[in-house]
Amino acid sequence: MRILILSRSPILYSTHSLVMAARRRGHSVRVVDHMACDLTILDGKLGVRYQGEFLGCPDAVIPRIGSSVTSYGAAVVRHFEMMKVYTVVTTDALLRARDKRTALQYLAAHQLPVPDSVFTAMPDNVESMLRMLGDNYPVVIKMLNSTQGQGVILGESLSAAQSIAEAFIRLREEILLQKFIVESKGKDVRVFIVGGKVIATMERSARDGEFRSNLHRGASSKKVRITPDEEEISLRAARLMGLDVAGVDILRSDRGPLILEINASPGLEGIEGTTNVDISGHIIKFVETHARPAVV
Ligand SMILES: Nc1ncnc2c1ncn2[C@@H]1O[C@H](COP(=O)(O)OP(=O)(O)O)[C@@H](O)[C@H]1O
Ligand SMILES: [Mg+2]
Repeated sequence: MRILILSRSPILYSTHSLVMAARRRGHSVRVVDHMACDLTILDGKLGVRYQGEFLGCPDAVIPRIGSSVTSYGAAVVRHFEMMKVYTVVTTDALLRARDKRTALQYLAAHQLPVPDSVFTAMPDNVESMLRMLGDNYPVVIKMLNSTQGQGVILGESLSAAQSIAEAFIRLREEILLQKFIVESKGKDVRVFIVGGKVIATMERSARDGEFRSNLHRGASSKKVRITPDEEEISLRAARLMGLDVAGVDILRSDRGPLILEINASPGLEGIEGTTNVDISGHIIKFVETHARPAVV
């Protein structure tokens, strides 16, 4: 097969790992930077240009779209989709999962457990919305497109949370306010799903003095077993988002597992290193059985 990986750089761990897995299985694979793809609609025909040449239709696209470039990255994926190219992550699924508010709306509407969360676009309403989360502090203030924990902040008191949230809204940064799950103690569980199956699970623990368990924030990780309930909600969440490849993050709370988010371009380095599962191999095998022959 001719596989195209959309990624900012071939030397990123996840991209490199997918390239090696594809080559090991005899595929021809090319890494293309989605931000350097030009899109054309000429005489009603769609095309994708890269370094001055049209890319044509590969047999499969594997998007690895970072959250700082979601909008244009998604446009490139959609262009391929509209050209009837198989993509392992569809544009709609990518956008649904990437926006934390949209994801929480879908999850809650389908009876999947999530932390209490509220949203407002009005600075004047922040105080009353914070009160809806109860009297316990801290609370979590989260940028809707946060990634690697970089837009996740603790509001230590009502007045601190209120001023942070008001400032974000005035800066036109969309946020959500969320109950802080204190009993998860800086830990979360990453459930890696490929093709409707859980293939690897790890627990991540925030480093001392930190509540965010992102590996980019210096968290440590180890293999963990998940409960049948955790497995079931993770699989349902991925299916609901329309994601065949997904990293579902779960907080273990007093009222059971809560889904925090679903990653559409989950990093492979931490999970492959921690669990020794050949995640890229699983992804490539999945692509082999699901890619449709390209229609030119
Ligand atoms: N409501 C919460 N209660 C407790 N910890 C949280 C909560 N929300 C986020 N965290 C911690 O912060 C980390 C980052 O939050 P997350 O929503 O996953 O944003 P990001 O997309 O930036 O990773 C989580 O992995 C978790 O450790
Ligand atoms: Mg996260």
